[in-house]
Amino acid sequence: MLVIYLLLGFYFVWAMIKGVPFYPSNKKAIDSILKFLPQDKSKKVIELGAGDGRIAFAIARAGYQVTAIEYNSFLSLIMRCMKVIYRIKNVEIKNKNFFSEDLSQYDVYVGYLFPKSMERLDKIIFTQANKGKIVISNTFTLKQHQPKAVDGKIYLYEVE
Ligand SMILES: C[S@@+](CC[C@H](N)C(=O)[O-])C[C@H]1O[C@@H](n2cnc3c(N)ncnc32)[C@H](O)[C@@H]1O
Repeated sequence: MLVIYLLLGFYFVWAMIKGVPFYPSNKKAIDSILKFLPQDKSKKVIELGAGDGRIAFAIARAGYQVTAIEYNSFLSLIMRCMKVIYRIKNVEIKNKNFFSEDLSQYDVYVGYLFPKSMERLDKIIFTQANKGKIVISNTFTLKQHQPKAVDGKIYLYEVE
């Protein structure tokens, strides 16, 4: 048992140093995220750091095309298994760092990420070319921008 706790502790410290550890969103947060999605289901959604895919699959079930990006190979494997088991076709799973993805092709950015990653994303997403696109963030805010709406811990931003 001690070994498991030590390994978990090690994983958390490593994940904190490397970036953002896996900490899943709860049901209330997922419901708020779904509420903030645009009416137009042709909009392309990306989940930045999708973890076990619970948000990406909920968004796909709501009828959107979703790309779920996760750099943790184990979590990506879980998502791939779930995609097959639940036969969800409109989720694309990518096992990679989302900073190496061409983010300009998406309309909606969903994430639950630490401020450092949010700041970096802010510079990439909030450009003139991305006017009208939206960002939905769990817990962490974009310091340079005012949210368009807030529901509990979920923040909605629109690029102006
Ligand atoms: C706090 S968890 C949130 C998981 C999921 N989005 C949710 O809300 O349930 C953050 C996830 O982002 C992943 N992550 C952090 N930085 C990333 C990056 N640059 N590229 C890909 N995945 C990343 C972590 O591995 C972790 O699984």
